[in-house]
Amino acid sequence: MPEGRTLFERACRGERGGHAPVWIMRQAGRYLPEYRKLREEVDFLTATKTPEVAARITLQPMERYPLDAAILFSDIMTPLEGMGVGLDFDPGPVLERPIRSAEDARSLRPLDPEEGTPFVLEAIRLTRAELSPDRALIGFAGAPFTLFCYLVQGGGSKDFMEARSFLRLETEAATALLELLGDSMVRYLAAQARAGADAVMLFDSWVGLLGPDSYRRFVLPLMRRVVGEVRAATHVPIIYFANGGATLLRDVKEVGADVVGVDWTLPLSRAVAELGPDAVVQGNLDPAALFAPRDELDRAIQGVLEEGATARAHVFNLGHGIHRTTDPDQVAFLVDRVHEHSAR
Ligand code: CP3
Repeated sequence: MPEGRTLFERACRGERGGHAPVWIMRQAGRYLPEYRKLREEVDFLTATKTPEVAARITLQPMERYPLDAAILFSDIMTPLEGMGVGLDFDPGPVLERPIRSAEDARSLRPLDPEEGTPFVLEAIRLTRAELSPDRALIGFAGAPFTLFCYLVQGGGSKDFMEARSFLRLETEAATALLELLGDSMVRYLAAQARAGADAVMLFDSWVGLLGPDSYRRFVLPLMRRVVGEVRAATHVPIIYFANGGATLLRDVKEVGADVVGVDWTLPLSRAVAELGPDAVVQGNLDPAALFAPRDELDRAIQGVLEEGATARAHVFNLGHGIHRTTDPDQVAFLVDRVHEHSAR
């Protein structure tokens, strides 16, 4: 497909025109009855590793709603198995053996995407072949710091203290691990773009645990390098979601991504004030707003669109993943309203 043909890709490049493109983080998932039905027969890991199933799930929300972009059904932890990590899901990721020493960290190998994640690349090819050309397909990876949090902690956590203390106690090993994750995710995202992803997104779900000084010391140089190398290897737009990153946005700007994803705690105009008027932002309706009565939800949607109008361009999304108890009809209403209110 010619570069930048979809409305979504044009918005990522900073162009306005037509309606605001909209997609939803975790749009392929448990709030959809068709997803839950499919998952009765196949467990999560198998679903992510079977290209036909992953493509089917990716397309489920696309069939239901006029969304402007699909995001590949997978997980940020999926490529880690190809680096030698033992992994399970319950429902969040659980590591067989957390990384707790320099020696543990050395046991991991860099990812070769064709070797370690061929099913992801095949799922992208299958999905791209079925998706209509005016709708984009987003590939993604976990950002190195967020992957580091899960690897060292061994699973989910509120504060990831094991991971954050490892960073201070074993700084050299931690830095080497972050670099290895960075190199691996560059290759992974480049391979996804070659397989047909129209844009790639880096999820930094836990970066909000860091203050600006730690972000500048441990994350910013690496993220700049990752984004620079992905850009050198592909021509697709790069989205960086720095969850909880309200205090980090001046530094996030220096990462150099094409689009910055913003969580719901910060009005987009304030994000733009930090990122600069040339910024393209993605977000940021509070996922809880989908539980409000329709008139209130509608006002919240208009509010996000008005805030988004302060940026060079705006990709509408939630401020984080959709909750699994959300009513699917509210999502239909949301997508229609975003299109209607932003049409010109
Ligand atoms: O629709 C999409 O957004 C694409 C698919 C997707 C999943 N995970 C599917 C999934 C994406 C982009 C992710 C990314 C992901 N995974 C992140 C970054 C985004 C974020 O939320 O901050 C993180 C931190 C993970 C790790 C992870 N995987 C967690 C914490 C969980 C448990 C989630 C929960 O709500 O309980 C998972 C499992 C997971 N990943 C599910 C899905 C659909 C649920 C699995 C199931 O039971 O069916």
